[in-house]
Amino acid sequence: MVKPSRTRCIGILTSGGDCPGLNAAIRAITRAALNEYGMKVVGILDGFRGLVENRTVQLEDASVSGILTRGGTILGTSRDKPHKMPMGGKVMDMTATAVQNARRLEIDCLVCLGGGGTQKNAFRLSQAGLNVVTLPKTIDNDVPETDFSFGFDTAMGIATEAVDRLHTTATSHHRIIVCEIMGHRAGWLTLGAGLAGGADVILIPELPYDLDAVSRFLLERRRSGKRFSIVAVAEGARSGAEAEAAGREQRKGRKKGGKARRPEEDVFGDETREGQPLVVRKVRDELQAYHVVQEPMASRIARQLQERTGTEVRVTSLGHVLRGGVPSAFDRMLCTLLGTRAVELMAQGAANVMVAYRGEGCRPVPLEKVAGNRKEVPPDHPLVRSARLVGTCLGDR
Ligand code: F6P
Repeated sequence: MVKPSRTRCIGILTSGGDCPGLNAAIRAITRAALNEYGMKVVGILDGFRGLVENRTVQLEDASVSGILTRGGTILGTSRDKPHKMPMGGKVMDMTATAVQNARRLEIDCLVCLGGGGTQKNAFRLSQAGLNVVTLPKTIDNDVPETDFSFGFDTAMGIATEAVDRLHTTATSHHRIIVCEIMGHRAGWLTLGAGLAGGADVILIPELPYDLDAVSRFLLERRRSGKRFSIVAVAEGARSGAEAEAAGREQRKGRKKGGKARRPEEDVFGDETREGQPLVVRKVRDELQAYHVVQEPMASRIARQLQERTGTEVRVTSLGHVLRGGVPSAFDRMLCTLLGTRAVELMAQGAANVMVAYRGEGCRPVPLEKVAGNRKEVPPDHPLVRSARLVGTCLGDR
């Protein structure tokens, strides 16, 4: 017998960068909604774009069978935002269309699975009158108010294995290997994998580095008889000078009045990387916004370290490998917990909350506490202290 529910029909979309665990979450939400509460479940394709363009599928038990362990997302994803969406050659505010389409589909509550950008976009939709519930997803683990976002544990496992493997080859060749790990604004992934993999140097965006200090550390290691080193670098790591310049830009923006543009924001908003313009290209008659293809920033660091230490240096950039493949056991568990809790909350009529993982349970957090905020690594975080205590160089002293 199905239980009574205040929510009869839900929509689900996945938005932003994909990661392992999205399918596990879609499965958990769909199964609990259908079987426990008899809700109707509408899958929205390709994130917010699918909502605006009315591209949906009805989700049944069979639709989610066998997807628990599958990477990616069966619904597809995009980085589109309803309020700034490239449409037929123009960038338009499609918020009202998104809300109307959800109403036409009789969706009582829209479940949005995504990272920081998605939380913000979902919050905007809630302000426009749509009921939303979100789940925290990102390998960066930078969504606030939750201990973990799903995808992070899997990516940390992949990155740690890479650091392990780099150790053996670096040792054989007596080289320094610089390994770039995703995370353009937060260093959780690099710090976690660097610590677990025993990287000798860990560079993260929150602790601006001094290359002289890093070189001194590497030379000292060599002098002490250790003829190889592993440097784990977050995609968004920056030198002291770069961090100061970014701070100056931000202050300048604020002085000019109005809302200071955050350095990572540009024409299309919040999901782009610091200082990087967007390339807008015509693709199948539709404007799409892309990140500029970047040379791994680790290459620059590697070149400078080779010059300063006179040691052979190699670079490995893990990139999207971190986002592919099978989710870890922890992520499968987390997705199932978060997804089923979201359904229980919607059945009770909750809306405009993110379901957060805290301690050993899940609890709703008002979306306004999450939207627009980011969980960064505090300089005195226990992981930072532990890294220092085991002799890891964090590049900042
Ligand atoms: O936000 C998750 C993330 O994987 C970041 O770590 C990375 O900088 C970014 O997405 C890459 O995005 P894209 O898939 O658009 O290249």
